[in-house]
Amino acid sequence: MAVILFLSVLFCAAEAMDIQFDLQHPIGWTGSMFIGVTMDSYYLRDSSMSQLNINSQTLHNVARALSPGYLRVGGTTADSTVFNIPASAGKTTLTPQNWQKVDQLAKLAGWELIFDLNVNLRHNGAWDSTNARSLLRFSSDHGIKVHCFQLGNEVNWFNYNFHYNLPAQRLQQDYQILKSLLHEFPQYSASCIVGPDTTSLLNTQTRQYFEEFMKAEHSHPTLNNIGLHHYSLGNVAFNMNNMTDPQLMNTLHTELQMANSIKHQYAPHTPLWFTETAAGYTTDYINQYGDGFMWLDKLGLSAQNGFSTVIRQAFFYSLVDTHFNPLPDYYATLLHKRLIQGSVLKVTAGTWDTLRVYAHCANHAHNPSGAVTVIILNLQNHGASLTFSQFQGQQMQVYLLTPGDSHGLNSKTVALNGKRLGLNNGQLPPLNPTTHTGSVAMAARSFGFVVFPHANVALCKH
Ligand SMILES: *[C@@H]1O[C@H](CO)[C@@H](O)[C@H](O)[C@H]1NC(C)=O
Repeated sequence: MAVILFLSVLFCAAEAMDIQFDLQHPIGWTGSMFIGVTMDSYYLRDSSMSQLNINSQTLHNVARALSPGYLRVGGTTADSTVFNIPASAGKTTLTPQNWQKVDQLAKLAGWELIFDLNVNLRHNGAWDSTNARSLLRFSSDHGIKVHCFQLGNEVNWFNYNFHYNLPAQRLQQDYQILKSLLHEFPQYSASCIVGPDTTSLLNTQTRQYFEEFMKAEHSHPTLNNIGLHHYSLGNVAFNMNNMTDPQLMNTLHTELQMANSIKHQYAPHTPLWFTETAAGYTTDYINQYGDGFMWLDKLGLSAQNGFSTVIRQAFFYSLVDTHFNPLPDYYATLLHKRLIQGSVLKVTAGTWDTLRVYAHCANHAHNPSGAVTVIILNLQNHGASLTFSQFQGQQMQVYLLTPGDSHGLNSKTVALNGKRLGLNNGQLPPLNPTTHTGSVAMAARSFGFVVFPHANVALCKH
């Protein structure tokens, strides 16, 4: 009761803003594999893998709920990881047992595995595929399913990580070697190849590197999907205020346009993916409520700009904690998966930089045919009241996400419609909306989803 009174006092001052959509002309498509998760190759080492309790029923429950999707295993450590041979100091050995454990994780979760191979194994200037062949032989013999392969990680930065340059053209030739290697194995000859996994295109040198790779790709195509990485905040020190900074969010739009323009020039039919992305590199902040703004905005902008998959860094530690308890972005991700699928709709009126709205067809698996789902991000320091005149008088199913405790944006828990979400004996809680008509009241600095189950939009029908 106290909460309701408080909210109504807060919102009576706010003027209602009418949000409108173009319900005729879709601007994109969000498929069932739109959101994936990563596991950093860093965790392939025995000391980490031995601690992963693959038999945990909680792990099954929370992972399975995010299916279907991709599990991408990669990262800086991929380029110093060898399979089944002793590694020198500072490097990692991926043991056959741990490799099978990764496969088990993917299978129990219902995730398609994407594996990043070590491009740093080199012979006479070219990629040495010997160790990869031994991994593929073992995998093939043991029924390990790998949906896609990658070669190297953020290779445009090799000078920084490994003290030498691997030119883009050379990397592309190495991808050709990978492609012929996969053809040696019936089980993997149809596996997809995703790369080159370069870093932010806002950096001129990176953009040139990516463009050179794509130019080479144009004459010798190897990629099924173009993979890029994105960290809005990179490795600079950041704070929670950055997470609600609309200017920073808008830089992603510039980056998405750059990616599209290079793709259209050299590989117009190859889908764009973010193969590794989060707000920043460290786990601080990205496991807290405030990160949800950056995350949902990225999902919205990427879908509008033709990206067909966005893979979140990282499942362990940013979506679930060490006991597999979901963190705030886990629930935002789960709701996105349940509520959104199909055409992306254009929002035509009622939004601005600090009141951001994304509109999609609702996922048929959980919502009526023709239903529409909107994502709302209120970055403002005051409440906002939203109306939707195109669906006037219709029932709305509202999922408002607010901090789960008094830590505000820094909260490591989240509340759905005022009720804090948590597991019950390892089971996910029901994610029930509140149902009403009229306007939607968004608290200051909060986000959520609204579904119009009876929107009856032709674009969103089966
Ligand atoms: C993050 O916010 C601080 C101020 O709180 C600002 O100085 C810094 O430039 C911001 N970082 C980015 C990457 O925008």
